[in-house]
Amino acid sequence: MSVIARRALLRFIAASPVFAGLGPITKALADEPALASAKDALDIFELEAAARKVVPPAHWGYLMSGVDGDVTLRANETAYARYQLRARRMVDVSKVELGTDLFGMKVASPILFSPIGSMRSMNVEGEVAVGRAAGTKNAVQIVSTQSSFSVEQVAQARGGPVWFQLYTTNQFEVTKKLVKRAEAAGCPVVAVTVDTPSGRNTVTATRLRRDDTRMCSGCHVVDDRGYPRGGLNTKPMFADIETQGLGLTSASLTWDFVKRLKDATRMKVVLKGIEDGEDAAMAVKAGADGIMVSNHGGRSIESGRGTLESLPEVVAGVAGKIPVLFDGGVRRGTDVYKALALGASGVGIGRPYAWGLAAFGQAGAERVLDILNLELRLAMVGCGARSIKEITAKTIIDRGPLAR
Ligand code: FNR
Repeated sequence: MSVIARRALLRFIAASPVFAGLGPITKALADEPALASAKDALDIFELEAAARKVVPPAHWGYLMSGVDGDVTLRANETAYARYQLRARRMVDVSKVELGTDLFGMKVASPILFSPIGSMRSMNVEGEVAVGRAAGTKNAVQIVSTQSSFSVEQVAQARGGPVWFQLYTTNQFEVTKKLVKRAEAAGCPVVAVTVDTPSGRNTVTATRLRRDDTRMCSGCHVVDDRGYPRGGLNTKPMFADIETQGLGLTSASLTWDFVKRLKDATRMKVVLKGIEDGEDAAMAVKAGADGIMVSNHGGRSIESGRGTLESLPEVVAGVAGKIPVLFDGGVRRGTDVYKALALGASGVGIGRPYAWGLAAFGQAGAERVLDILNLELRLAMVGCGARSIKEITAKTIIDRGPLAR
């Protein structure tokens, strides 16, 4: 019996007065998969719902958490409402091209996979399944330093170059080793995450962990409370590195790091996590090849500010000298459109592709790209923008700051 037919039967039985109040039927309905296949998802929220059903509470908390009260996480998602699309008519939109160039890579669309660590917590194939999706759809994939699979494994799955996300560590010799390894794996770009200098307060993640009845020790090395220790030595990128005393980030990092890193690598250096116009100008001065406006999906500082709110000042600070990438709260193709209109060259997604991956593996991650690319294409058609270059600030309307 198909999933849809089975669900219809269960609903019929549950609605029948004969079976009223029967717990097992209600439970069977709750246990039903939300979607029969990735292709059935009409928007990414249906994939979120499908993922919610299969991801255990502790891992769901890891994915969905912001920091403190998750205010910034919500601000990321709501910031798009400030802008409207300027609908234009009678433009020949019989040919609309989403393809673009991101640091020399010719990709099918400006939408890219932002780095997410430990993706095996969503699906056993983790970043490798995402790599295959990125290869099939010709999208940029940024592989986290904290990835569950090595950069070599993911690049092989992608069937072409991936970008590497670098946590700076607190020991430059280790940083250099990571960078050399990414370079040897063929990465053309390193995205250096600079938004998490020292700790964060992931309340939602910790709260949801309390709801998880599974024994973490089944899969993880645990601490004396039974929670995963999450040591760097468990991550493939640190396989041959002494991790005793090693920190993933450094609280004393300053702009001179950019030059040190540039001197140590041939890869293009993109600073991920810039949110301020003055910082943007300083990043250019420091020699960065690009910027990614990001607040780590609302997981670094509880600023209360959505990344889309920062984008215009960062674009102004850069003054056209280097490309500006962007991520945070993108849930619709129209969100991608607005970020592009405000000056982004590429737009990253985080949680959405993790939902797709959790629900349906590679097919789910592909479906997320298909949905967002379709929505983006339709936004372009509606605005009379036939190429990514034609998506300019003139094609959106600024309603002014949102009342919160
Ligand atoms: C992240 N992000 C992230 N960023 C990074 O530079 N290195 C990393 O290892 C991770 N890991 C990570 C894990 C999880 C569970 C999430 C949700 C996010 C941040 C990520 O790259 C991206 O900036 C945000 O996810 C974008 O926001 P959305 O699309 O999730 O709203």
